[in-house]
Amino acid sequence: MTVTVDRRPEAPPGPPKLDRDGLRRAQQETMDTPRMDYSLLARMMFKPVDLLYGKPGSYTKFAMLEIIARVPYQAWERMGYWAVHRHAGRSALARRVFERIVEARADQDNEQWHLLIMQDLVQRAGQRQSWLTHKVAPWLIAFFYYHVSWVLFLVRPDWSYRLNAEFEDHAEHEYMTFVAENPDLDFVPDPGTYAAEYGRHRSVADLLRQIGHDERTHKLDSLERMREPRVR
Ligand SMILES: [Fe+2]
Ligand SMILES: [Fe+2]
Repeated sequence: MTVTVDRRPEAPPGPPKLDRDGLRRAQQETMDTPRMDYSLLARMMFKPVDLLYGKPGSYTKFAMLEIIARVPYQAWERMGYWAVHRHAGRSALARRVFERIVEARADQDNEQWHLLIMQDLVQRAGQRQSWLTHKVAPWLIAFFYYHVSWVLFLVRPDWSYRLNAEFEDHAEHEYMTFVAENPDLDFVPDPGTYAAEYGRHRSVADLLRQIGHDERTHKLDSLERMREPRVR
């Protein structure tokens, strides 16, 4: 007997890939947009990162940010499985929650590529990552962020989405500012280590602009989720 499956949540395509002009425009748009008003919780994560890595952007700082960027999506994925079980008897709701799980997994993958690209750039630049700055500090901040994310999601999902939007807004501005402050990066070719999975850009500047634009897409997605009715 053949079983036909006509509707299955597919992995979303991920943030759009922009061409050279689009990437330059995206950078300008970010530079023209003020940063969001960051909450105390967000500042509790940004401050130690600035203290450990310095205020200006760097590949090591971005690698650190990417380690913790996946965390809320992981927390939402876990909460989603819990909700799917709760709503197992209501197929429409369970399906909607499951679609969210699939999205959260795709966003984690996107952040994972960012992290691998950053690690590659750190290594190519021969920059040092100490045990404290590369292992202990990211673990502590990720631990804090993970628990804050799921607890907020449980009590007020919109607060959890808002916190992630602030984190993504911060990342977007960090990348675009770094590119603006380092014009020589336009002349450094993209090494293309993860070209097959992430695409290849003309320069490291364009690669970082694309990542910055991904962060904006993540931010806008979270802001949209904030306005949706609660699925619990
Ligand atoms: Fe990222
Ligand atoms: Fe992101």
